[in-house]
Amino acid sequence: MNIFIASANKHKIEEFKEMLEPLGYEISSLNDLDEDIEIEENGHSFEENALIKARYIAKKFGIIAISDDSGLEIDALNKQPGIYSARFLGHDTSYDYKNLEILKMMKDKKDRTCRFICAIALCYPDGKEYVFTGSIEGTVAYAIEGPNGFGYDPIFYYEPFKTTLANVDPSKKNQVSHRHNALVKLLEFLNESK
Ligand code: IMP
Repeated sequence: MNIFIASANKHKIEEFKEMLEPLGYEISSLNDLDEDIEIEENGHSFEENALIKARYIAKKFGIIAISDDSGLEIDALNKQPGIYSARFLGHDTSYDYKNLEILKMMKDKKDRTCRFICAIALCYPDGKEYVFTGSIEGTVAYAIEGPNGFGYDPIFYYEPFKTTLANVDPSKKNQVSHRHNALVKLLEFLNESK
């Protein structure tokens, strides 16, 4: 069976492929299309944004589509940057800058709890829709640390690792990540509905 990933992000597509191909699914993505497709993420939650993209593709091409939306929620900052994680302080602003700004905003905050959240939407051409959510709990670190990962990983302190997610091997992060946790739920669902 074919599943279309409504994303052009190579890192995400690889992660989906690694988990879905062994189950016999053939994976294609926005990168395999001849046309450029821009889908506006104007939802109010991770779930809504993931659904908007997968629903659009499932309808337009009559195929099964998957899409994800993810981001960082910091409790002391009213759950910012949240669904605006990619756009926070400007889409093209470097994460060195974004992470430093967050550390400044967190300077006097006692509560440093935060989490990465990932919502994966699965949409069928007949209109059936499902969303699977995964998260990982951490705290905002006191300094930027670690060369690996991407985005907010260098300021995401993960207690079980006693360091930031950017300071461990990516394969180690990928076993506990929000995306992994959501993917596991998606896989359970696909297995049961086979
Ligand atoms: P998306 O591609 O629309 O899901 O945007 C996700 C944004 O959330 C990314 O651009 C990062 O800023 C942030 N983010 C999501 N997952 C991670 C992660 O695993 N590590 C670091 N930052 C992440």
